[in-house]
Amino acid sequence: MSLIEVAKNAPIDSRESCRLLEEGNILFFDHVPFAIPSDDLEFLLSARQDNTRLHKNISFRPGPGLLRGFSGAKQDAERLSGIMREYSARATEFLGSFLAPYAGKWSLDYASFRPIEEANRDLPLHKRNELLHVDAFPSRPTWGGRILRFFSNINPTEGRVWEVGENFEDLARKHAFDAELEAVAKRSGTPLERVIGRSVRALGSVGLPLPDRSAYDKFMLRFHDHLKENREYQSNSPRTRLEFPPNSSWIVYTDCVPHSVLSGRFAAEQTYIVPFEALLAPEASPLRILERQCAASLTVR
Ligand code: SIN
Ligand code: FE
Repeated sequence: MSLIEVAKNAPIDSRESCRLLEEGNILFFDHVPFAIPSDDLEFLLSARQDNTRLHKNISFRPGPGLLRGFSGAKQDAERLSGIMREYSARATEFLGSFLAPYAGKWSLDYASFRPIEEANRDLPLHKRNELLHVDAFPSRPTWGGRILRFFSNINPTEGRVWEVGENFEDLARKHAFDAELEAVAKRSGTPLERVIGRSVRALGSVGLPLPDRSAYDKFMLRFHDHLKENREYQSNSPRTRLEFPPNSSWIVYTDCVPHSVLSGRFAAEQTYIVPFEALLAPEASPLRILERQCAASLTVR
């Protein structure tokens, strides 16, 4: 894993950028690559969050325009929704050219705003982000698609401090067996699992959506929890500290880069799910790394 700085006004090689990200590097910008109006920034820096144990951050779903986790008057919620919608649109416009091979292929996932100081947060274990982990979303299975995230630290004075761990190949080699990769793989594609999958899809088609998870998705959820639960891993695994300074941005596939956030407040973020078919280096994906390791297919329908 390397942090690779993208110089302002440097010529863009978008295929190379996609490849670097897929291989587990972080692309870093010492600025936010689009303007956020100063009165919007001021509003964001004054935003307060609702029930901080229930909602880890303020989330915004750009499609339906759903804002969650914000405490404040209705008109402030509308203003925040408008700002988040704009952040999401500008990030997507920027990435649509910076990562052109993915444009139009990704699905736009949640955006978020993170106004709470991350140091010393009191959260349930599996929600604690100061523990190293790779991302997996219980409600959004990807079937081998990848979780791409664009972050901006809009804090005018303080950095956002992360730690990042070893590459996914090494991580999986050391820890996937203990997280029961073999057991998940063995159940993949069995008649029982197929019947369950068909039932989940049938319920979805009559309006009762349940997450339709592949074996890959089931494993990645387990892996996320397993790493957070594993004290030995949390204390002794190799890691690098990174500090994202005020007014900077970074792009990262958080499904392959183990990460934790140690301190900082006021980050904005937009997530994309990049489908497996759109990847430029599919062999470097967590799906293929895990499949090579357990010698089984993890996306049998
Ligand atoms: C995460 O662990 O995905 C969140 C990182 C952050 O909020 O900086
Ligand atoms: Fe995470």
